[in-house]
Amino acid sequence: YLIGSEVLQNYGCRMASGLGITFQLVVLSVALGFVLALGLAIARLYGPRWAQIAINGYTTFFRGTPLLCQLFLVYYGFGQLRVFWQDIGLWWFFREPFYCALFTFTINTAAYQAEILRGAIQSIPRGQFEGSLALGLHRWATLRRVILPQAMILALRPLGNELIVMIKASAIASLVTLFDLMGATRLAFARSFDLSIYLYAALIYLVLTEIIRRVWDRIEIRLTRHMAL
Ligand code: ARG
Repeated sequence: YLIGSEVLQNYGCRMASGLGITFQLVVLSVALGFVLALGLAIARLYGPRWAQIAINGYTTFFRGTPLLCQLFLVYYGFGQLRVFWQDIGLWWFFREPFYCALFTFTINTAAYQAEILRGAIQSIPRGQFEGSLALGLHRWATLRRVILPQAMILALRPLGNELIVMIKASAIASLVTLFDLMGATRLAFARSFDLSIYLYAALIYLVLTEIIRRVWDRIEIRLTRHMAL
């Protein structure tokens, strides 16, 4: 028998549903964050000056402060504004730890992804842009059909890293009472004082990140197989 298998028998079910919550939280926030980041990166590069300054402030704040601090600001800070949220019918959202974490993680990862995308777009040689315009494509069509497809391939690897970072960082959602994988693990430990439960949790996170790393390698090989080098 595995050491501590008793604790797995007792809490395995809760940890499995915790894993499901972790999965939903990360997939949703990284996907929503990506959509947001795409808009941010494009506005940051081609938008009006005021938008560039605002987006700069946004990314500076979210990349320069701890995610935990941001989460507490949303969960406890926005919670103080109960009457306000009730008035505009959004209290159901900011009362729920899951939605608070989803909101915080989305705007946090959007800041990181925006910088990834901006870097990727900027590393496409200027001639691609000029050549496309010279062929008669409109600016917007140039961006969408010529620049972005190339930039996405450059952004692929750092975006995969971001997904892995977010899986691990999502464990802090357990600090606002969410029973994600880490939350379920902390509950199991608090009841059993069996340290091995944290080893199992670590193993599950490890398997998860390792699967994503390998899948991402496959995707990258597939998408770059037409390229020399
Ligand atoms: N551990 C970092 C923090 O607490 C992770 C933040 C999220 N990082 C990210 N690439 N989205 O600030």
